[in-house]
Amino acid sequence: MSRTFTIAIDGPAASGKGTLARRLAMHYGFHHLDTGLTYRAVAKALLDQGLPLDDEAIAAEMAGNLDLRHLDRKALAVHEVGEAASKVAVMPTVRRALVAAQRAFAETPPGTVLDGRDIGTVVCPDAPVKLYVTASAEARAKRRHAEIEAGGGEADPAEILADLNRRDARDMGRTDSPLKPAEDAHLLDTTEMDIEAAFLAARRLVDEALAKR
Ligand code: DC
Repeated sequence: MSRTFTIAIDGPAASGKGTLARRLAMHYGFHHLDTGLTYRAVAKALLDQGLPLDDEAIAAEMAGNLDLRHLDRKALAVHEVGEAASKVAVMPTVRRALVAAQRAFAETPPGTVLDGRDIGTVVCPDAPVKLYVTASAEARAKRRHAEIEAGGGEADPAEILADLNRRDARDMGRTDSPLKPAEDAHLLDTTEMDIEAAFLAARRLVDEALAKR
């Protein structure tokens, strides 16, 4: 068994998994990787260089050269980059390169929290704690809208909902590593739950698993 304790968190866009992952990492003193940023970084590199998003050989080369230490969360947060990332993420050779880097990160002692779409199913299938964070599409769209407004931006709520549904369909419908809960994942439905309640529920599960080590 690995010496490093890993918490695997999966879920759809805007489910709250990222916030939960950051809070857990802070609480336990673990290293955190938002694996969505790795797909976003590949997509952004292609967009910046005016390269096609559907050329698998080029995208896979970008993925193989990615340095996880230089992921600029702010530059990668842009909506278009997320859309492009979801397209790049259907390519098996891109996934293989990124998963290898994510697995290496997952071994960083003393513990790691990885969040994404396939952490419990593919990247870290042996993680002692797996969480699948979800919420209704309406609740997620509402949160995303509030986030955008808080940042001084403007967005059409109906458009946000349509975007989320499109992204869910692509992430859940792809052949390679589709988004789905691992069989042994704990389901956290945050539709009616605030981040504090989700954090407490997750902590209880992690504390139990840590006590069993
Ligand atoms: O979580 P996010 O919005 O940053 O993710 C962007 C895209 O990356 C998402 O639509 C699908 C893809 N992704 C993936 O396929 N596997 C992961 N582990 C993380 C993200």
